[in-house]
Amino acid sequence: MLYVGQEVRRGDGVEKVNGSAKFIDDYKIPDMWHGVVVRSTSPSGRVIGFDFDSSFDWSKVVVATASDIPGKNAVSMIEDDLPLLADPVFKHVGEGLLLIAAPTRELAQKAKSSVKVRFEEFKPTLTIEDSKKKKWVLSHHEINKGDLKKGFKEADRIIEREYSVGHQEHIYVETQGAIAIPRDDGVMEIIGSLQCPFYVSNALKEIFNWPENRFSVRQSIIGGAFGGKEDYPSIICGYAALLAYKCKHPVKIIYDRTEDIISTTKRHPAIIKYKTGVDKNGLISALDITLEMDGGAYLTLSPVVLSRAAIHAPGPYRIPNVSVDATTFATNTPPNGAFRGFGAPQAIFALESNMDEVAFEMGISPDEFRRKNALIIGDTTSTGQRLKESIAVLDVLEEAMSSSQFVNKYSDDSKWKKESSKMRGIGFSLFFHGGGFTGSGEEKLKSRAGIRIEDDGGITILSAQTEMGQGSHTVFSQIVAHTLHIPIDHVHVCVPDTAVVPNSGPTVASRSTMVVGKVLLDAALRLKGEIDRFAAGKFSARLSDLEWRGGRLFVCGDEKSSFRELSSQYMKEKGVTDFIEQYILPEGHHWDDEKYCGDAYPAYSWGCYVAELEVDKDTLEINLLDLHLVQDVGTVVNPVLARGQVEGGAVQGLGWALLEDFKMKDGKVLTDRLQKYIVPTSLDVPRLNVKFVEHPYSKGPYGAKGLGELPLDGIAPAIANAVFNACGIRIRDLPIRPEKLL
Ligand code: MTE
Ligand code: MOS
Repeated sequence: MLYVGQEVRRGDGVEKVNGSAKFIDDYKIPDMWHGVVVRSTSPSGRVIGFDFDSSFDWSKVVVATASDIPGKNAVSMIEDDLPLLADPVFKHVGEGLLLIAAPTRELAQKAKSSVKVRFEEFKPTLTIEDSKKKKWVLSHHEINKGDLKKGFKEADRIIEREYSVGHQEHIYVETQGAIAIPRDDGVMEIIGSLQCPFYVSNALKEIFNWPENRFSVRQSIIGGAFGGKEDYPSIICGYAALLAYKCKHPVKIIYDRTEDIISTTKRHPAIIKYKTGVDKNGLISALDITLEMDGGAYLTLSPVVLSRAAIHAPGPYRIPNVSVDATTFATNTPPNGAFRGFGAPQAIFALESNMDEVAFEMGISPDEFRRKNALIIGDTTSTGQRLKESIAVLDVLEEAMSSSQFVNKYSDDSKWKKESSKMRGIGFSLFFHGGGFTGSGEEKLKSRAGIRIEDDGGITILSAQTEMGQGSHTVFSQIVAHTLHIPIDHVHVCVPDTAVVPNSGPTVASRSTMVVGKVLLDAALRLKGEIDRFAAGKFSARLSDLEWRGGRLFVCGDEKSSFRELSSQYMKEKGVTDFIEQYILPEGHHWDDEKYCGDAYPAYSWGCYVAELEVDKDTLEINLLDLHLVQDVGTVVNPVLARGQVEGGAVQGLGWALLEDFKMKDGKVLTDRLQKYIVPTSLDVPRLNVKFVEHPYSKGPYGAKGLGELPLDGIAPAIANAVFNACGIRIRDLPIRPEKLL
């Protein structure tokens, strides 16, 4: 059965369409209580005490404070600086101070409004500028290649520009939520709208000071995550678990949209400076990049977001002399965290706006400038990684140029521009995205995943990877069914539950297909080998006489048995059910954490995105006409799901580029609901022309690489470049609003 490369219907599709899928707020558990969080209303200060209104009957509810935490008051991530409940110092608006559980949501809300927090206020630090003065550095990375001084000496022109981007809120359809169930056997069971069940059990272990086996964390069906449910669920699950532990009932906590927007993580705002040296021939001789990010009040995932931004900032270009100086600063705002792209979209907006500006000033066409400088096989990236295979920079560029007819539209007197009464423009971006954890990250993770033979010979996939809409569970089933030559409905994907599945690492960094998919392929190959040998023995045949068709076994042309029958017999005779494998980085992969150089990622995916748009001459409104989205993600395992990833990422990217204007004042979020924080709807989506050029990666499963985040990276700069082409105005600060054009 051939499944890889086919438009297999997604396993989770029907129940999501017909409404039977059970999201976290759909769970009704007997005796379940509801939790709410009392939060700080000031960006910086110290709690003095809580006043409980005596007209409220407090005997009906349970209150938990930091002093109820059995273990450490810290949510472990990279460091332990973030408290579960601030005590007594709080560092941003919306920080959890006190928890309440009650038999009904209404009563819990009533109790919440009957508590007053007495606090002392400190002077907050709210901007990168202020934080810099105080040297509030959360993390720092440097990349150095070649000799920058020499590179600038060789330059004919040196161009310096500054770019900036604001926050972006995930706006997953389903807000954050979790349920904690204190079981009679002493296990705390957690069900949550989350990306990484093992992150949650790791954090809870410290909060409770309990062994790992006293937690069972599993994912409910989730309505989108986009990085926003990577680290944050450790906090909300911690709240639910602490309340459940104290009130001895299952406790559900669901945030409403405003609570979600004001208190959970967002994309890091950034200020990015490029100093670019170009020689007479149009080759980039030196690139000096300074990247500053606003990390918010606690470290959370800032170091890894910063690192990815730094590594992606020099882009898919051959540059002999590069320096990237990257810093995240702390401010008294909610911690910023993972958001699709993980720092790369910020860097790539600046990079690709800059490449366009430099080409323009040099009088070189933007496509020709990219062609001259694009990485090809044998080149080294800015971290010194020598590129050996699956390099598609020029291919995606040429395909995008021809499918958009870029050259015919770009010039000011083109027919295409003249046929509109509005100002038309076309622009593009060229970019890459590394799949999987950075550097030696995948080695440290030691991801384990595999497959299990069930009693009836069916196959269950065991991994911690979560399905969050991206299609990973369908893709996994395709890889396994394809390898075993069995019908895909004989393959079932286990719910990611820490008590059941091996730890295959988090569902982040676009790693599921390329990394965990490879582990599953290895496991399936091992099982297939075993079953083949078992069958050959049983039917006294040679391995070469066996032929599998649709899960049925033929020996020298005669049908003898089925995969189901044989695997069930194999299991009973050999007593083996599980085939678990571990990911190993390709041989020769080297990364130096000290010098920050070497092989930053096992493989890169490549994209070239073209935006065509019109700017209204009177209102300066921007209307997108077409997006041409060309990429190489290696082998496309499921074309319709892959297209879905590109379309979704593109729409999130155009929201960030044109509409989403996240505003804070004095540390408080002003855009705290969807009436004020405007995200794209289907009416804002232009024609999308999605194309894949396939450059298979030999170490990925059937040649597949990462895909999930790439599509968000290239949209904003393509739009900024198209706006410049339309009306000659360069906007270097996202979002690109008509007010800024004015
Ligand atoms: N697609 C949908 N529909 N929903 C999501 O939450 N998250 C994105 C991307 N695509 C997301 C999504 C993010 S942030 C990542 S890292 C990848 O999916 C993770 O999944 P993958 O490893 O399967 O690519
Ligand atoms: Mo994605 S931001 O790595 O969860």
